[in-house]
Amino acid sequence: MGDETEKKITYLLQQLTLREKINMIHGGGLFRTGEVERLLLPPLKMSDGPMGVRHEFENASWTPACDTDDYVSYCPSNSSLAMTWNRTLCEKAGTVLGEEARGRGKDVILAPGINIKRVPVCGRNFEYFSEDPYLISELCVPFIKGVEQADVAACVKHFALNNQEYERRWVNIEVSKRALYEIYLPGFFAAVNKAHVRSVMGAYNLYEGEHCCQNQTLLDGIVRKEWKYDGMIVSDWGGVHDTVKAAQSALDVEMSVKANFDEYFMANPLYDAVQDGQVDEAEIDKKIRNILRLMLRVRLIDVEFNENGQGTVVVNKDRKAGSFNTAKHREIILDAARESVVLLKNDSNRLPLVLERTKKLLVIGDNAMKVHAAGGGSAEIKALYEISPLLGLKCLLGGNCEITFARGYEVPKKEKDGQNWQENSLNDGKERKDGASGSKVCARAEKLRSEALELAAQFDDVIFIGGLNHEEDLEGRDRENMSLPYGQDELIRQLLSVNPNMVVVMIAGSPVDMTSWEPLAKAVLFMGYAGMECGTALAQTIFGIVNPSGKLAETFPKTLSDCGALNLSDFPGRALDEQEKKRMNAHLTQTYGDGIFVGYRYYEKYHVPVQYCFGHGLSYTTFEYGNFCGEWVKNENGGRTFTACIDIKNTGQYAGAQVVQFYLGEECPKAENAVKELKGFEKVFLEPGVEKKVKVCLEEAAFARYDEEKGSFEAEEGAYILYAGSSLNDIHGNIHFSF
Ligand code: BGC
Repeated sequence: MGDETEKKITYLLQQLTLREKINMIHGGGLFRTGEVERLLLPPLKMSDGPMGVRHEFENASWTPACDTDDYVSYCPSNSSLAMTWNRTLCEKAGTVLGEEARGRGKDVILAPGINIKRVPVCGRNFEYFSEDPYLISELCVPFIKGVEQADVAACVKHFALNNQEYERRWVNIEVSKRALYEIYLPGFFAAVNKAHVRSVMGAYNLYEGEHCCQNQTLLDGIVRKEWKYDGMIVSDWGGVHDTVKAAQSALDVEMSVKANFDEYFMANPLYDAVQDGQVDEAEIDKKIRNILRLMLRVRLIDVEFNENGQGTVVVNKDRKAGSFNTAKHREIILDAARESVVLLKNDSNRLPLVLERTKKLLVIGDNAMKVHAAGGGSAEIKALYEISPLLGLKCLLGGNCEITFARGYEVPKKEKDGQNWQENSLNDGKERKDGASGSKVCARAEKLRSEALELAAQFDDVIFIGGLNHEEDLEGRDRENMSLPYGQDELIRQLLSVNPNMVVVMIAGSPVDMTSWEPLAKAVLFMGYAGMECGTALAQTIFGIVNPSGKLAETFPKTLSDCGALNLSDFPGRALDEQEKKRMNAHLTQTYGDGIFVGYRYYEKYHVPVQYCFGHGLSYTTFEYGNFCGEWVKNENGGRTFTACIDIKNTGQYAGAQVVQFYLGEECPKAENAVKELKGFEKVFLEPGVEKKVKVCLEEAAFARYDEEKGSFEAEEGAYILYAGSSLNDIHGNIHFSF
């Protein structure tokens, strides 16, 4: 590409009038930019989202097109995908999303969401990967590459510091430079620098007093100048607030939720601002260059020159056609779902249940019956199908097992107002969801509960399938706390008292407080919104056809108040003082006082006991770790790499996979540093009795911290410990060495 591409861009730019350019840099539909018919330049067609390609809307209204031709494969949410800790699977999952997007005729798929999970109650956590920047980077890079193989653009979102839904458009974030660079930016940097992602979406919130979608520091300073990014930057829908600021920032395209496209900040008002001399046309040209570059990169357009040097735009030449709803896609989705299941607890080997011996089974809980694809906000999709857990169990067990279902608790029905929430999403704000909403038990709920309790006493095999749903894991709203809704805690406690062998399954997009009943349960499985084959994967895991290998990609604290954001910071924000009110267009502000101490970095440092630690996840088999040793070796760049190996053996009876995790810490951790941090991992599949060597290579960059004075990453000399284990807390070997 290179020079040839830039020549084509320059040529097209010269042909465009100011009006035409303006047309290209803002929404001309809810999910497309304006086209330039005169030059045969098509619009850029975009679609959400991270769990599959969203259904079609009318161009200028949020009315679903209501077609039967936009059903798609329902992919695992990023939080599910992250629990696989499997880079190859992430690439495959990306390929599915990319091919489906292309198959549906899209140019940009608005995914993946890679924000840091700073608080366990953020409504959109299910769309994000992890609390750890290294894990996010390692998984999002193959995912993006997978997507973009299909001749579409991925769009990493939401840049940056978009870590809560509460007042998401009006909360200003202040954070130390160090935490910004070490925690909140690495995922985006990896997306830009390693995956060469073709587009980035700005965030709704403000950073240092300016909305992210028109923020010079973030977009111009960091993304364009420091990272030398030449892809397209698009606003979140309604994320722009000022014509001149947006025009003068590195934002390329303004999108919004309203149908008054000509009135967008970067539409007629910008045309006028250029005419008035407030904005230089050169600013617009920069945006056009980035948009055209993306169009060329995804092969939406090409320019063919004749002998006189005159160019003609050709559309979709040699471009992959994509495909959706293929058997291959479903196979990958099932693989990912299987690897995403986390076995949290399995006392006395309660699991797996034995298929041949199970003649009667009681399944309790609304999530056994529930399908989730159509919820969550912009991540909603119209799934070709979705196997619920109960369906998965029935498909697996067949006609010789009598399965009884008892709902156990009730999810109150929502009144539908006929409107799409997104139409009003710019009015959103202060609402927060009370996670314990179900504590008021009505008569019907009481009946469901006693019915379940009565049955539970009569069955040997009982599975409870509860957790959250997209009333809780939802865009635009955070949960108030981590409690299970709909009175589930009490119900599970009572059920376990009548049937202590009951297996508990939690399906949720974020951590839930299990402390009141978890000690009573023998077996607990956790699973996210894992896509159309969720029920199949779960049933296969319960019955041992699949050996669980998922690992938590975030800590499960005991309660929300244990979290660093609440103890070291003023989550969800404080009122603006008079000075701040003058300085920024915000409702509240928040200083991330927790700095780098996000997730496990906080719990470990401050000795806060947790329910389940980062990286936790059991297996039906057992593993033994052997010798762990390492040394410095010279690398080809003239630097050195600390290379270490550990042996791991499957000592149990099932074939299974273990994620060997490598953490680095200082021998005597300094007050300002984390005790240890994830620096490597490898998922190894082992037949019983088989041993493998797992290697980790730490480049010098692994020892670097962001030096605020120098404004750069600097490697720190000192005495270090490299840990190897099956989770943050389950360490099986360590090496003491110096850097
Ligand atoms: C969300 C984005 C989404 C966009 C378009 C916004 O509400 O924050 O993630 O891509 O809408 O639907």
